[in-house]
Amino acid sequence: MILETKRLILRDWDENDIDDLVEGLNNIEVSKWLAYVPHPFTKEDAERWIRYCMHLTEKGMDRTAFEFAIELKSENKVIGGISLSNINKLHGTAGGGIWINAGYHGQGYGTEAFGKRIEFAFDVLKLRRLENGFFPGNEASFRMQEKFGYKIEGLGRKKFVCLADGQIKDECITGLLKEEWIRRVLSGDYNEDIQHGGSMSIDVLYKEFSGLETPR
Ligand SMILES: CC(C)(COP(=O)(O)OP(=O)(O)OC[C@H]1O[C@@H](n2cnc3c(N)ncnc32)[C@H](O)[C@@H]1OP(=O)(O)O)[C@@H](O)C(=O)NCCC(=O)NCCS
Repeated sequence: MILETKRLILRDWDENDIDDLVEGLNNIEVSKWLAYVPHPFTKEDAERWIRYCMHLTEKGMDRTAFEFAIELKSENKVIGGISLSNINKLHGTAGGGIWINAGYHGQGYGTEAFGKRIEFAFDVLKLRRLENGFFPGNEASFRMQEKFGYKIEGLGRKKFVCLADGQIKDECITGLLKEEWIRRVLSGDYNEDIQHGGSMSIDVLYKEFSGLETPR
């Protein structure tokens, strides 16, 4: 499976990606925001992950998860990973996640990949609702999701033991409906938000749901 954007190729993982995968995920500043990535992240961890992804690939389109390597065209390098997981065709829903190598943050690659993943979910797989989330304090993830119309729907209290740092973390649960995405993308709002950023305050929303100040 291959998806393409202006600067990126989203494609299946293979054995040649092991070094880029370790480079990207063996960084606590990335993995502390992810639930299932241990730290340090070793070559063996990467091999195991890629074996799992190749197994998924064998199932073709009829699978419950897609795991894409994010390849930067200009460098022929994998700079991140993005997924669509827990696909439920009956209910038309899926979850997923994303990470970008810290050396490539802040250049719009996350937004570019995330937008393509949403398009794939709604346009190709014909899903109608996507669920995501982020750990409180993850401003970049929240901003990226907000651009596409994701809304905070609740708080999963003490939901994960983050493998990277062993901390028990809350999760701000977010969701996007197809009609919201269509409204956002097909209207000028989307472009305006891409340029100027969103407007909601993550700290205020977290406090509203949890009664707590955002952990720093
Ligand atoms: C979240 C992540 C994928 C975003 O990727 P990215 O390529 O850096 O994101 P973009 O460059 O597309 O920027 C997305 C938005 O977040 C904003 N942003 C980026 N870093 C930020 C920060 N530290 N604080 C506040 N906003 C930030 C950007 O300014 C941009 O918004 P804007 O266009 O309104 O200015 C990346 O930061 C990452 O991999 N983080 C670690 C893993 C992670 O958090 N994954 C998601 C788990 S839910």
